[in-house]
Amino acid sequence: MTESAFWSKISNQAKEEHRPFFTMAPMEAVSNTVFRQVITQACAPDTFFSEFVYAKAITDPNTKFPVHGRLYMDSREKNRPVVQLWGNEATDFETAAVYLAEQGFQAIDINMGCPDGTVIKNHGGSDLIRNHEWAQDVIAAAKTSGLAVSAKTRLGYSKPEEFEDWIPFLLHQNVDVLTIHLRTKMEMSKVPAHLEFIDDIIKMRDEIAPQTLIQINGDIPDYQAGMKLYKEHPGLDGIMIGRGVFANPFAFEKEPKKHSLDELLALLQMQLNLFDDFSTHYDVPRFPSLKRFFKIYARPELGATDLRNAMMDTKSTDDVRKILAEKDKYLK
Ligand SMILES: Cc1cc2nc3c(=O)[nH]c(=O)nc-3n(C[C@H](O)[C@H](O)[C@H](O)COP(=O)(O)O)c2cc1C
Repeated sequence: MTESAFWSKISNQAKEEHRPFFTMAPMEAVSNTVFRQVITQACAPDTFFSEFVYAKAITDPNTKFPVHGRLYMDSREKNRPVVQLWGNEATDFETAAVYLAEQGFQAIDINMGCPDGTVIKNHGGSDLIRNHEWAQDVIAAAKTSGLAVSAKTRLGYSKPEEFEDWIPFLLHQNVDVLTIHLRTKMEMSKVPAHLEFIDDIIKMRDEIAPQTLIQINGDIPDYQAGMKLYKEHPGLDGIMIGRGVFANPFAFEKEPKKHSLDELLALLQMQLNLFDDFSTHYDVPRFPSLKRFFKIYARPELGATDLRNAMMDTKSTDDVRKILAEKDKYLK
């Protein structure tokens, strides 16, 4: 597949259905092969983004931020995710992209929005918003691979109005997709997403880089909310959903249905099994990292608060299975 054919296929298919494309956001310790398969079982988005991977680590196993299982794909996972990379050294992106192309990945995303202090100290994530030339260089370096290249960023570092310079700068780099989390680095996720800038961003894209697809992100809980935004802003191409899947693993469902506790717990069983398989390849993430997922399935509105609490006290996937085997004991 040639550059951008990856994204145009996704986008054209969505346009035929009179909708934007929907993606699941890159989320550290969440968007791995295990959870991508669980969400696919519930209702798949058009594509997934991987957890962020330190670009240098792809060809240098001795970095501070090793790849571990971030690029691992279970043989049952049919479609490759877009691999998100972070860093600021062009050479790291160039060699990482060559390796990813050899492995059969088709698309790279560059993280230009992570607010984490360690990432910023290492000149990645939102630090690129303050250093435009690094952003320019890493995009150009990633493109040498021939893979599709996208960037995910925020409106600015300190003030939302920074988007007036930053977004045109990125559009001039001619990426396939520009994903904008509609907040600044300083705002983290603490204020509502700035939906008021969507039309300005679309106008910039139309003027500077009409071929670049615009995807927005931030506080969009599900498919229906994404469609509402699309109807209000038909110039949008894509909608990215992150935390929405924590409230509803069926967030990408086009016709929302009510899902029973049994259906939700079946997804949890699947996640436990996939996690065990994953753990035979990588000892990271460890069992406690699974606990953040229990609340997705054992929901209070379905009378499952005690069930969730019992699972929170477990130490292994088998402990969780034992509790699930006698779940009626815990249900209200
Ligand atoms: C647990 C978690 C991990 C995240 N990890 C990443 C990451 O690796 N790369 C990235 O670009 N953004 C990451 N994000 C940010 C999300 O991709 C997304 O931009 C943010 O959550 C806002 O979208 P939402 O309101 O739909 O969740 C992470 C967010 C969460 C909650």
